[in-house]
Amino acid sequence: MKILLTGGRGMVGMNVLQHARAARHEWHAPTRQELDLMDAGAVLAAIERIQPDVIVHAAGKVGGIEANRADPWGFMVENVTIGLNVVTSARKVGVRKLVNLASSCIYPANHAGHLTEDMLLSGALEPTNEAYAVAKIAVLKLCAYAREASSGLAYKSIIPCNIFGPYDNFHLIRAHLLPAIIRKVHEARESAGQSVEIWGDGSARREFMYAGDLADAIIEACERYDEMPSLMNVGTGVDYSILEYYEAARRVLGWEGEFTFDLSRPTGMKRKVVDVSLQTSWGWSPQVSLDEGIARTYQSFLEGKIR
Ligand SMILES: NC(=O)c1ccc[n+]([C@@H]2O[C@H](COP(=O)([O-])OP(=O)(O)OC[C@H]3O[C@@H](n4cnc5c(N)ncnc54)[C@H](OP(=O)(O)O)[C@@H]3O)[C@@H](O)[C@H]2O)c1
Repeated sequence: MKILLTGGRGMVGMNVLQHARAARHEWHAPTRQELDLMDAGAVLAAIERIQPDVIVHAAGKVGGIEANRADPWGFMVENVTIGLNVVTSARKVGVRKLVNLASSCIYPANHAGHLTEDMLLSGALEPTNEAYAVAKIAVLKLCAYAREASSGLAYKSIIPCNIFGPYDNFHLIRAHLLPAIIRKVHEARESAGQSVEIWGDGSARREFMYAGDLADAIIEACERYDEMPSLMNVGTGVDYSILEYYEAARRVLGWEGEFTFDLSRPTGMKRKVVDVSLQTSWGWSPQVSLDEGIARTYQSFLEGKIR
């Protein structure tokens, strides 16, 4: 297949391009310099020229709690605009298949159980990343409306849980939780530090999946598109406490220090884990364990495979 991948230099995009099964397909993955997705005319021209069989929309303005809190305007405007440009251009050109990447932050905040796809828009969002989530919901709905508006089109969205892996952002402030944990434990070990500080009390629970597994699901989505549900969670379905992620990093990196807790810091939702029933009935599940994922991610960090 001829596949247009947006965000091909991002964490998810790089893991897709480097996946063993990627070689079966012809990929077009322009950089931001080659194709600025904020430019509607350029996006339309690129899709007209490439005539892809499938578009995987994995570009976005992505960041951790602090980055989201600092710039809700930017997270909303950029994510809505690039999504609008990609989906409307795909529809104009008549591309039949589009896999849009949403995110599990689109679900209502503080739900105690597993999040199912039908819970979308059933409650208030987590305030710390509301702008990003609203933008993601807008683009997901646009894909659904494209499906309704034109019977030949079948635009679908997958909703990944939190992802970590090679080409992650390890910046101490802008990073997501797990790469920031790996970096903090790495620095403590390198400087013979005795303790690492955790934001909050470490009890909030999160689900993380290795990026290579998400890449596998995305390639599977391109190859078995017609059987895939039009809206589907992609995750492990298993969550751990933040303290347990710190303990896993300590175990894998072989550091022997202790953890302290800064109770004045925000930690977001108490729990966030997706239901994977649809994914399982579609016939897909992740393969990489948490410790193996941390070990591979740490190795790639040491090799400089970072954002
Ligand atoms: N990371 C996660 O935990 C996670 C979880 C669930 C869903 N997702 C979703 O997965 C997708 C990819 O996330 P990621 O973690 O790979 O993010 P990332 O590493 O920040 O990559 C995002 C990519 O989008 C590109 N991009 C952003 N704005 C652009 C523009 N105007 N023109 C062209 N390219 C643009 C970036 O280009 P540059 O390289 O030039 O910056 C980058 O390559 C996003 O839709 C995200 O919402 C991610």
